[in-house]
Amino acid sequence: MWPPPDPVGWRTVPLDGALLSFERATGRTLVRDDARVAHLRAKAPRAVQFAITNACNLTCAFCNRGHDARSTWTADEAFALLADLAHAGTLEVAFGGGEPLAFRGLAGLIARLHRETPLAVGVTTNGTLLDDDTARAMAPHVSQVRLSIYDDHDWPMALATLLAAGVRTGVNVLVHPARLPALPSLVFDLAARGCTDVLLLAYKGPDPAMHLAPAQRDSFAATVRGLQRALPAVRFALDVCFGDRLPGLPRMVLGAPRDDCGAGRDFVVITSDRRVRACTSHPHGEPFTTAADVLTHFERARSHFAMPIDDAGCARRDDRRHLPLAPEHR
Ligand SMILES: C[S@@+](CC[C@H](N)C(=O)[O-])C[C@H]1O[C@@H](n2cnc3c(N)ncnc32)[C@H](O)[C@@H]1O
Repeated sequence: MWPPPDPVGWRTVPLDGALLSFERATGRTLVRDDARVAHLRAKAPRAVQFAITNACNLTCAFCNRGHDARSTWTADEAFALLADLAHAGTLEVAFGGGEPLAFRGLAGLIARLHRETPLAVGVTTNGTLLDDDTARAMAPHVSQVRLSIYDDHDWPMALATLLAAGVRTGVNVLVHPARLPALPSLVFDLAARGCTDVLLLAYKGPDPAMHLAPAQRDSFAATVRGLQRALPAVRFALDVCFGDRLPGLPRMVLGAPRDDCGAGRDFVVITSDRRVRACTSHPHGEPFTTAADVLTHFERARSHFAMPIDDAGCARRDDRRHLPLAPEHR
């Protein structure tokens, strides 16, 4: 239905060739992409992934953040940048890093963004620094917290803390070959604990043992289809980096162009050392000072930002040529 049925709390912004309406409180979206909006161009990235700090209390071997990047943001500077981007049309910010809960002042920054800007604010966390007070402080101001599931950490406790505080909570599960056999039991366990939102992430990085081989991708896709049937109350989402590689599961990309992951157009990454990148793994980072600089790069760097990254996990790569398969799968 167009326009959205309840305009209260909705913002509408142009995308490339489409018009997007977004409800901050729920994250619901409506996209209009008929001939009458084909001329539209995005004025700002719809979403910003913000590495507010590069510091992390964990040392995950698979982590794809730039480990050497400095952390230079203060809460006031981050607020000023994000308020200006919101004014230009950005709808959402997702804080990550590093570990965003290791950033002093995160709860205050989130509350201020919620009160003083129209941004929807999300946080992706490993959950290990979470306590009841932090969860309760964030609850009224975050549109969602995404809890990363790491086997060697007490994610059930973190999930319980978030849900008890009334935080809209989803989980991130990094999918790799060793994870596949236990994936169904993990998801059933999550559902039994009250989780209704599961994002399945594709591995990006140089370790061949972490990439799914084609047969494993087929089996993973079948597993997801089975889980969707078995758990209709759970919303499953797939990382855009899976691209078209999962048979029977459509790629989930908001707005146009639909045959692309949207890195650098639909969303950009702001790094802890003040660069703007198309995505976390993208090698091309433009230094910037102000939101106007970010928007200039968003416009001017279209061609750089649209490049595939040199990584088998990139949806823009032809993986038949580039997938560095583990020897047993060659
Ligand atoms: C880099 S972490 C930063 C936020 C926070 N420290 C956390 O652990 O959730 C953000 C997300 O990226 C995922 N991630 C880390 N390394 C990855 C990789 N090499 N490929 C794909 N996703 C990765 C994590 O599982 C997590 O959900």
